[in-house]
Amino acid sequence: MIPPSQPMPSPAAMNMIAALLEQRAGQQIAANRAWRIETALKPILRERGLDSLDALVAQLVTARTGELGDQVVDALLNQETSFFRDAAVLDAVGDAAVEMHAGTPDRRLRIWSAGCSTGQEPLSLAMLLAERGLGEGLLAPEIVATDISPAALNRARAGKFSQFEIQRGLPVRRMMTWFDTIGGDWVAKPELVRRVQFRQQNLAADPAPPGKFDIILCRNVLLYFSPAMRRTVFDVLSSAIRPGGLLVLGAGETVIGQTEHFTPSERFRGFYRAAIPSLLTSRAAAAG
Ligand SMILES: C[S@@+](CC[C@H](N)C(=O)[O-])C[C@H]1O[C@@H](n2cnc3c(N)ncnc32)[C@H](O)[C@@H]1O
Repeated sequence: MIPPSQPMPSPAAMNMIAALLEQRAGQQIAANRAWRIETALKPILRERGLDSLDALVAQLVTARTGELGDQVVDALLNQETSFFRDAAVLDAVGDAAVEMHAGTPDRRLRIWSAGCSTGQEPLSLAMLLAERGLGEGLLAPEIVATDISPAALNRARAGKFSQFEIQRGLPVRRMMTWFDTIGGDWVAKPELVRRVQFRQQNLAADPAPPGKFDIILCRNVLLYFSPAMRRTVFDVLSSAIRPGGLLVLGAGETVIGQTEHFTPSERFRGFYRAAIPSLLTSRAAAAG
């Protein structure tokens, strides 16, 4: 039985949990968001019959496997997302994809949704590209979607969304075209889910998925990284993008002052172009 109110967590317990999150996922918790720790970890306390965060930390210290740590980190990640989030941005991604495809019609476009959460972002892209005639055949764009969270990826692969989730951003026409209702849920049709390859990847520790991408979306992921970690992540993104490819960040995220690998795109406002390596080298030579 859990007592009605939990004891206040000690600063040491809070610090240890915040350190675990930063060590595993590169994410920092600002002091004014520390309340999130208690709220997010309540289900784990309940499941384990623990009465406080200090008791959970004691279990973390003695745990033989990293499984409990993974569960704690997963619970602390902010996985807020929705279909067609910032619809105008996704429309512009569609414009860029159509233009890139027209420029290299014999090559399959490759798009990476990094930090895809429960899949709404890459599934929105897949719908959008199909609707713009880029959906079928051998030259259909390849969409790779990654996240650090196995739980989020499992949900994404299942393509199953509640009425609340589906109504956030999806007009009825798209709901009816791309989803079936099963029980009270909405399940993405196989022809939609198979357009996206979901894989686990930690932006703070793992290499990028193999191959080069024409467009990378990394939206609303960088906000909680330290400046040093952001730099590392931009290096990972840069290693995976074609020269001249486009990087799309979330509102409130920027490359400016944080990396040399990307510069604001003149053609697509708000997007960033991957620097051409030769330009970077000559700039470095001029500076040196
Ligand atoms: C706020 S959601 C954004 C989802 C989507 N990109 C959007 O804008 O709607 C941030 C996602 O980034 C993931 N994330 C956090 N740290 C990560 C890391 N180190 N590597 C990969 N994904 C990470 C979280 O699990 C979460 O699903």
